[in-house]
Amino acid sequence: MIADIQNEILKLKKEKDFCILAHCYQTPDILEIADFTGDSFALSTKATSVSNKNVLMCGVRFMAETVKIFSPEKNVYLSKSDAGCPMAELLDVDMLRQLKETYPEHTVVAYVNTTAELKTLCDVCVTSSSAVQIIKNMPENKILFIPDCNLGNFVQKQVPEKEIVTIHGGCPTHARMTVKDVEKAKAAHPEAKFLVHPECIPEVTAMADYAGSTTGIMDYAEKSEAKSFIIGTENSIVQHLQLAYPDKLFYPLSKDCVCHNMKLTTLVDVLNVLKGTDGEEITMDEEMRLKAKRCMDRMLELGK
Ligand code: 13P
Ligand code: SF4
Repeated sequence: MIADIQNEILKLKKEKDFCILAHCYQTPDILEIADFTGDSFALSTKATSVSNKNVLMCGVRFMAETVKIFSPEKNVYLSKSDAGCPMAELLDVDMLRQLKETYPEHTVVAYVNTTAELKTLCDVCVTSSSAVQIIKNMPENKILFIPDCNLGNFVQKQVPEKEIVTIHGGCPTHARMTVKDVEKAKAAHPEAKFLVHPECIPEVTAMADYAGSTTGIMDYAEKSEAKSFIIGTENSIVQHLQLAYPDKLFYPLSKDCVCHNMKLTTLVDVLNVLKGTDGEEITMDEEMRLKAKRCMDRMLELGK
């Protein structure tokens, strides 16, 4: 049944000239039919390297918007209209304008998990895998980091020479993880290395053997000599790692570390977008696109 749907998707993908991008938090049946999979940074510019007329982003809204910002000539689709990132929708432009008035000397660095509209008011964009390097490379010393205070605090520890102001915001999925969760997981698996995403609260991140982005965690697990790992990020990464490295053991930090927005998209939703019966095409006013693109171009420059 799953294979039948996948085969139909592969056939329609060719016929209708689609490129499918899937974030690592998607389920394995979707990752298998994607042209490219990866974390937010890896996926951000992938569509610019393909000639397909249509792009389907299996992820959340800000990711589809990112594709549209870099590839305005393509038709970009999100399979589920309500697949949003609560953190990306935390601030609106009026709130950010007020913050900029409070910190007039600060350069605004936006986590990529922000709406395209909000990006129009930001100076530099970062992803979790590029934040430390980009902020180190920036000539500016005073930074207003939005919207994730946990990632902002993590970067501050790695780059103490900069002054980073954060606001109270973050990812509900990762911020849900507690010190108690870590103590419980470590007691159950004392030999395991603990790997964590910096979207977790600082008290949890401080207990880790390694903290980094999705790709960072996956690379660490691949290269490490250790045989078992507690994974402090979205639980699909636990499954992907277990599938990729069957000789090692991977344990979730908590069974509650699930992003319901990322899990909205199903294989059948993907099929329906290709059939033209479901999904939303991302549209963007050209003036807004160009304004939002400025901070993303700076991300690419500074990330080199
Ligand atoms: P990365 O893909 O940058 O690791 O971010 C994780 C995440 O929460 C995506 O929404
Ligand atoms: Fe947003 Fe967190 Fe879900 Fe990522 S995991 S999409 S940051 S809510």
